Amino acid sequence: MVRIYTKEEIDKIARSGAVLARTMAVLKKEVAIGVTLKHLDDVAREYIRNEGGEPAFLNYQPGGAEHPYMASICTSINEIVVHGFPTDRTIKVGDVLKVDCGVLLDGMYSDSAFTVIAGKGTQKAQNLVKATHKALEEAIKAIRPGAHIGDIGYAVEYVAKRSGVSVVQGLTGHGVGYGLHEDPYVYNYGNKGEGLLLKPGMVFAIEPMLCTGRGQVKQLKDESWAMVDKGLSAQFEHTIAITETGVKILTSL
Ligand code: MF3
Ligand code: CO
Repeated sequence: MVRIYTKEEIDKIARSGAVLARTMAVLKKEVAIGVTLKHLDDVAREYIRNEGGEPAFLNYQPGGAEHPYMASICTSINEIVVHGFPTDRTIKVGDVLKVDCGVLLDGMYSDSAFTVIAGKGTQKAQNLVKATHKALEEAIKAIRPGAHIGDIGYAVEYVAKRSGVSVVQGLTGHGVGYGLHEDPYVYNYGNKGEGLLLKPGMVFAIEPMLCTGRGQVKQLKDESWAMVDKGLSAQFEHTIAITETGVKILTSL
């Protein structure tokens, strides 16, 4: 079931999203060569709690998972796409680091992610990160009442193709609000005009994930998802709401 949120509910999700946006801004500043992933996790947890929220990923146990997730952020490097665990590994020159975080505030979840390259990075890495950021922008531009969910995937795929990178297969965005993961799946590929009709009040986490290789992923023992061909991957994510007239980003400053 795809929920339709009221204006009041969307305002609440926006407040959760505002805390998350500020958390992400703080995390971006903390990213530096030599810093541990665990440090970023500590900063996120403390910042969110200080704002009166709770880290949404901490103790989260999706159906099928063997144990709850024991951190507040996911830190996924290079060929790891998502769900990388913030260990005491340090950030190294050239790392393509994805930081994914969620906030629970006043009963509402928000979800967001960004990618940064530590240091300058190769041309290939820069192109990938730029393309993935563009894919999120274009996906959001495709969203308005009367559009279809396939338009979102089409936009992501179009940017990927034009940039010479691939869409990561099998990992998707999702509805978000009362739950961290709600219906529908928001695919990063699709056809214009196909799939769910977008209506005011729907709230989605849009999360394009692109890669330099062929797009196949597998889950590792630590439950992170990695590119099978060890190519680089990037991800950007915003929580958005569909309004009467268009779209509102709920996780930007
Ligand atoms: N943003 C991640 C996703 O949409 C959520 C990870 S939840 C975790 O898949 F608890 F597993 F980290
Ligand atoms: Co998400």
